Amino acid sequence: MLAPSNILGVALLLLLFAGTCLSDEESMLWEQRTALGKLQCEPKETWVYIDSQLASYDDLPDKDYYPHVVTVLRCLKSCSFCGNSIWGVPRKTCKVDTKGPKHVVVRLYNDVELSRNITLIEHKTCKCM
Ligand SMILES: *[C@@H]1O[C@H](CO)[C@@H](O)[C@H](O)[C@H]1NC(C)=O
Repeated sequence: MLAPSNILGVALLLLLFAGTCLSDEESMLWEQRTALGKLQCEPKETWVYIDSQLASYDDLPDKDYYPHVVTVLRCLKSCSFCGNSIWGVPRKTCKVDTKGPKHVVVRLYNDVELSRNITLIEHKTCKCM
């Protein structure tokens, strides 16, 4: 038979032990929700093929040029989280709010036209919608 003071001691130990396990899991949950919360709905750096952004009548794809790819800012659904990061439930989708021009230059392998200034459309602001 354990004396009441011993029972109290065992209970206290169990409580401490459970507390350590719990705080480990709590800190992981906290890290997870912090990581999710950092995925702000804002334009993110990504890249596009220049020729995929041109009008259909543009003659650039018929020419030799570089670079073929440039960086642009885009509202990316999978890189942004619109929802409750504690419950980890998406509520909305991060979509483009405003757009604006981005000028890029390509070099042509051509004696007549050495370079060309191209205007791409970039996402300037995003919104959870
Ligand atoms: C490219 O063209 C835009 C206007 O269409 C102009 O504002 C910009 O300065 C030009 N950039 C270069 C490098 O010529």
